[in-house]
Amino acid sequence: MARVIAFFNQKGGTAKTTSTLNVAAALAERGRRVLAVDMDPQASLTMATGVDIAALDASIYDLLLDDSLDLPSLAVATSLPGVSLIPSHPDLAAAELELLNVLERERQLEQRLKRGDLSPWDYVLIDAPPALNVLSINILVAAHELVIPIEPHPLSLMVLRRLFETVSRVRRLNPDLRVHGFLPTKVHHSSRLAADMLAALGEEFPQFALLPAVPLSVKGAESAAERTSVLHYMPRSAIAEAYRDVGAWLETNDPHAAATRPPVAAHV
Ligand SMILES: Nc1ncnc2c1ncn2[C@@H]1O[C@H](COP(=O)(O)OP(=O)(O)O)[C@@H](O)[C@H]1O
Ligand SMILES: [Mg+2]
Repeated sequence: MARVIAFFNQKGGTAKTTSTLNVAAALAERGRRVLAVDMDPQASLTMATGVDIAALDASIYDLLLDDSLDLPSLAVATSLPGVSLIPSHPDLAAAELELLNVLERERQLEQRLKRGDLSPWDYVLIDAPPALNVLSINILVAAHELVIPIEPHPLSLMVLRRLFETVSRVRRLNPDLRVHGFLPTKVHHSSRLAADMLAALGEEFPQFALLPAVPLSVKGAESAAERTSVLHYMPRSAIAEAYRDVGAWLETNDPHAAATRPPVAAHV
């Protein structure tokens, strides 16, 4: 069964999109088949993975509002080997209002994922918008697992209370949601502030894991501008290695790993 993992934080700029893209690339490098889902109307993930929005027949917007569409049929190839994408579109910004009239509006993404044949993929990675709105709620209801990318900055802690309040409210609709923990991003290794904040995070939320930290690096933005991953753009860089570690972490922390998957040879 495909694992559905969302990169979620209502704060903007915490590297949700960068992480979705590069974790997708890291898992694909390990031979996993990945479907990325862009749920942000800004469509940054769609653009960064080389998909031409103007040439799209349909996007996640159509999928959420049209009951008759089948999720796998919307998947398009990306510039990342082994990664396909359900693209976003600026129209998605209107979905919030349009979903108001839809019965079970919080469950639309979940229903599409449940109904679609996800067997072509091992992982579905969802890139969330920087908001707590009906699109975000759809993500929290549809995901099996949650990773919270966070910038080690005191202001980032303040948004977490709201985030967890929202998560606990949607538990009723998604009781099995597994919150893994925090993915520290843009970490300046010599920064005292970052170290202190990560320690404070561990103390305040001992029930959650700290995933391998991703260092501050301009290569994240450069590779996205080149429509590729840092793993491809700068394979030996510290940020590429960090995202490989995050991919490996997710593979070992599979909540349903009763029967462990056989190792797959990494493709070059
Ligand atoms: N490790 C990093 N080091 C430096 N800048 C980063 C890093 N990861 C992401 N960025 C940059 O931070 C900005 C926000 O990242 P993005 O992934 O778009 O965040 P979000 O999707 O959470 O809004 C982008 O300009 C991106 O290139
Ligand atoms: Mg984003």
